[in-house]
Amino acid sequence: MRVDRSAEVPEGGFKEFDRPVRIVVAWREARLHGFDPVCPHMGDPLAQGSVVGSSICCPWHHYRFDLATGENVYSRSVYPAYLAVGLPSLKVRPVREIDGGIEPTLKVGAR
Ligand code: FES
Repeated sequence: MRVDRSAEVPEGGFKEFDRPVRIVVAWREARLHGFDPVCPHMGDPLAQGSVVGSSICCPWHHYRFDLATGENVYSRSVYPAYLAVGLPSLKVRPVREIDGGIEPTLKVGAR
């Protein structure tokens, strides 16, 4: 089940695909990473977000998620730290690149 061509995913950015599955794909450290297209905070679309370093930033309330693990890294800047407990992480959808195409694996993980 190929999503699309990996060459369409810009370096330092991301691309959302909507078929055959809705998924956002980004490069990080020369590897493709896939994740859900909606923010786990309030379900708003991440397509209008931006990549900041190694994370994607949601434009709505500025939560940031690690591109590889989905970890909510916004929590690292919350003080006092106990207020950050329970901030949701982004659901990761592992993908692999085969012959220039992107294939989501069947396993959907959340961290
Ligand atoms: S909807 Fe993304 S941070 Fe709130």
